[in-house]
Amino acid sequence: MPPIGFGTFKVPAEETEGIVSEAIGHGYRLIDTAQGYGNERGVGRAVARSGIAREELFLTTKVSNDAHGRVASKDAVRRSAEALEAEQIDLVLIHWPRPLQGLAAETWDALCELKTEGIVREIGLSNFTGRHLERILAHSAELPAVNQIECHPFYAQTAQRRRHEQLGIVTQSSSALGRGGDLLSAPAVVEVAGEHGVAPAQVVLRWHLQNGLVPLVKSTSPERMRQNLDVFGFELTTQQLARLASLDGDGRRGPDPDYFPDEEPERYGQHKEKEQIR
Ligand code: A2P
Repeated sequence: MPPIGFGTFKVPAEETEGIVSEAIGHGYRLIDTAQGYGNERGVGRAVARSGIAREELFLTTKVSNDAHGRVASKDAVRRSAEALEAEQIDLVLIHWPRPLQGLAAETWDALCELKTEGIVREIGLSNFTGRHLERILAHSAELPAVNQIECHPFYAQTAQRRRHEQLGIVTQSSSALGRGGDLLSAPAVVEVAGEHGVAPAQVVLRWHLQNGLVPLVKSTSPERMRQNLDVFGFELTTQQLARLASLDGDGRRGPDPDYFPDEEPERYGQHKEKEQIR
């Protein structure tokens, strides 16, 4: 798996082919999409016209929230393969665990079957908290190759990362730049960037790499695409990593995986049966 991936969340369908072509041109080899992003066809077209050998590119997609269940998920992944113009998809993840729906384990079994059939090379999870992950481990002997979780210095998820390491599961970081907001202007990030003469985003991406994570980063700007891959010429010191570690807190930017998309955010955590549901 390439060390950094190009993310396509919120990239509009009609712009995807152009943006992903640009990203591949800059050197991205891992392209991350999802059925729910509605842009798999654009990714497929960009890959097909790239001239890069298929085996040099690593394509990830994710089973959408409305396709959980054995039959629906298998059909959806077959449609993804067609949209991506791929005989085999390198990695397919369950996008969200949906514990209120309760079909994640069945969906996992379907992905295992697709792996055996060869339409998918590796399978994994996305947005599964520790508890959701343990349920899959208790249910199936097939270990997820990856769990893609929201992870950045404001939300470092150290306990879950440690569990992944114990198990040999790769942690991919979504919202790797904290969605591009105040993380990139946090004093610790800006200071460390100044010490290396690099941009704040490059410091955050080094934080991911030096913590053994595979960040997914998206940008629609060619200059930022280039910048985000240009992170192999400097190294954060132990002291700088410690300064960045002090930013960790309850800095989640995305939805709560216990409830999304089955419950409105204002009702998160209000279930009487919360303990049983989760
Ligand atoms: P843009 O497309 O205008 O570059 P995340 O991956 O955490 O969700 O963050 C994505 C956001 O970060 C996007 O809004 C993107 O905007 C912005 N972004 C991507 N790369 C950089 C960069 N190198 N510097 C600043 N902002 C960036």
